[in-house]
Amino acid sequence: MESLKQAILERGKALSDQVLKVDAFLNHQIDPQLMIQVGQEFADRFKNDQITKILTIESSGIAPSFTTAVELDIPLVFARKKKSLTMSDNVFVSQVYSFTKKESNTITVSKNFIEEGDCVLIIDDFLANGQAALGLIDIVKQAQASVAGVGIVIEKSFQPGRKQIEELGYRVESLARIKSLDTGQISFIEEN
Ligand code: G4P
Ligand code: NA
Ligand code: NA
Repeated sequence: MESLKQAILERGKALSDQVLKVDAFLNHQIDPQLMIQVGQEFADRFKNDQITKILTIESSGIAPSFTTAVELDIPLVFARKKKSLTMSDNVFVSQVYSFTKKESNTITVSKNFIEEGDCVLIIDDFLANGQAALGLIDIVKQAQASVAGVGIVIEKSFQPGRKQIEELGYRVESLARIKSLDTGQISFIEEN
């Protein structure tokens, strides 16, 4: 997606050879026009897949998921990292370990919002090691719903996330694929 790659190059910064900072449009400040384009692109890629629901994880997955949900005209559910005050015990739970942060998070989704028969598109802002996406897939399976695929805004292709998810047989659609961040230079895997 060209406008996204342009935003990454012009407004992003390689903080190291592993970490890309994009808080000017995705992780802190949000660029609404760019997020609308992201939603249109995801919707276009999954328009023939009979998606009934989008599942993401708070917080940075919500903006791109929301615009996609508007385009596909379906509900959006976000997994919580902390149990909400009003959440009952009627929840699906999965453990997500972050290699980046070296911590484990329990994520929860109410059983009211993912149901057997749902066809779920999983969306997240970043794909690194794939643990967040695998946790969301686990929750969809607990609900006896199906996974239509995984939509990622920015994939760090030098990390193993895509491989982990594809090995389980799921489709991954990434709007920008970072080949390398070495020496502060951001480069992409070129696709047609
Ligand atoms: P994984 O799910 O692919 O295994 O990812 P990992 O544990 O490595 O990521 C932990 C957090 O760091 C996630 O956000 C993820 O989106 C984010 N992250 C990973 N790599 C990068 C990167 O290069 N740049 C940026 N900006 N973020 C990265 P989170 O803790 O869930 O936070 P948030 O959704 O509230 O923003
Ligand atoms: Na995220
Ligand atoms: Na994030």
